[in-house]
Amino acid sequence: MKLFDVYPINPINIVKGVGSLVYDDKGTEYLDLYGGHAVISIGHTHPHYVKRLEDQLHRIGFYSNSIEIPLQKELAEKLGKVSGKEDYQLFLCNSGAEANENALKLASFYNGKKKIIAFRKSFHGRTSLAVAATDNPKIIAPVNETDNVIFLPWNEESALDDAFVEHEISSVIIEGIQGVGGINVADIGFLKKIRALCDQYHAVFIADSVQCGYGRSGKFFSHDFAHVNADIYTMAKGMGNGFPIGGIIISPKIQPTYGMLGTTFGGNHLACAAGLAVLEVIEQENLIENAAKLGKYLADEISKFEQVTEVRGRGLMIGIELPAELAHVRKELLMKHHIFTGEAKPNVIRLLPALNLTKAHADRFLEAFSSVLNYQLT
Ligand SMILES: Cc1ncc(COP(=O)(O)O)c(C=O)c1O
Repeated sequence: MKLFDVYPINPINIVKGVGSLVYDDKGTEYLDLYGGHAVISIGHTHPHYVKRLEDQLHRIGFYSNSIEIPLQKELAEKLGKVSGKEDYQLFLCNSGAEANENALKLASFYNGKKKIIAFRKSFHGRTSLAVAATDNPKIIAPVNETDNVIFLPWNEESALDDAFVEHEISSVIIEGIQGVGGINVADIGFLKKIRALCDQYHAVFIADSVQCGYGRSGKFFSHDFAHVNADIYTMAKGMGNGFPIGGIIISPKIQPTYGMLGTTFGGNHLACAAGLAVLEVIEQENLIENAAKLGKYLADEISKFEQVTEVRGRGLMIGIELPAELAHVRKELLMKHHIFTGEAKPNVIRLLPALNLTKAHADRFLEAFSSVLNYQLT
């Protein structure tokens, strides 16, 4: 049987990883500033993570949500503490799209309304509502098309005002920092405006934190920079450091009823062990502070390169915009310098490394970047 060929892949077979380094089947070392698409939050094969998963697997890997799973409560407790949203409620699922799907659905259950506000260049996943709220017609199949989603321009407050007056809005879904869209930071005033309008019109504020959450921005949720609370935060990627786990945390004003949401795999024992291991390491090793510090260092240094058009982002979620003629830089970083980075088309390099990136690894990137740009570091 052949694989269904949907991914343009690099001819590299990664077989091993330690921290921010990965190795291919020929023993070549690569610096991983891509984190498998913002997934590796505490570094590859972190010993605490490996041990916690191994120990759990020896006890039990899975049982369904029809029984008590104390690990879920432990995870909720820890997540409340580390995120600062202690009075929220946790629902666990398996991926980012699923988290957003559940959030949008829950919002509609809550207020009985249908219209969703999403933003230009947003990415929220590939399942039915999540993809409908994604601003990319190429990945929306005819069956996913709906007039329930209204796309508005990014960071434009007046368009928000108008949409709330014209439509019965159920929810607003927004990434605090757009990832796939090219690392675009939501203005603090814009997030505050969303909060105010959602309060005024009984709509639900959904903070898609699948990519920009979990400490990556230098705060637990990037929306926290605006000092407002969303009603639902959606999470995945960094939550399991590679183990598939997603979730939503829900404000106390939205109350559950039996059967409202559900899942077979979500919240299984092994997933919870992975989620707990990640939070324990984030807490014990002060990784959110490290993301803020190293992110600032990298962004400051990158902005010194005169060829760079713009540096965007927060913490260790960095977008480097280059002029079109330098679109080859990312490929060269990989092929010549063995550094993985992400991209946002057409010419934005995305840095999404593990939150425990070291200064030495940041410098290794800066030297390689300098050499590709043919620019001497001062
Ligand atoms: C902001 C955002 N939301 C949702 C998703 C979808 O997550 P998943 O691929 O786990 O379904 C992604 C994935 O890139 C994302 O970046």
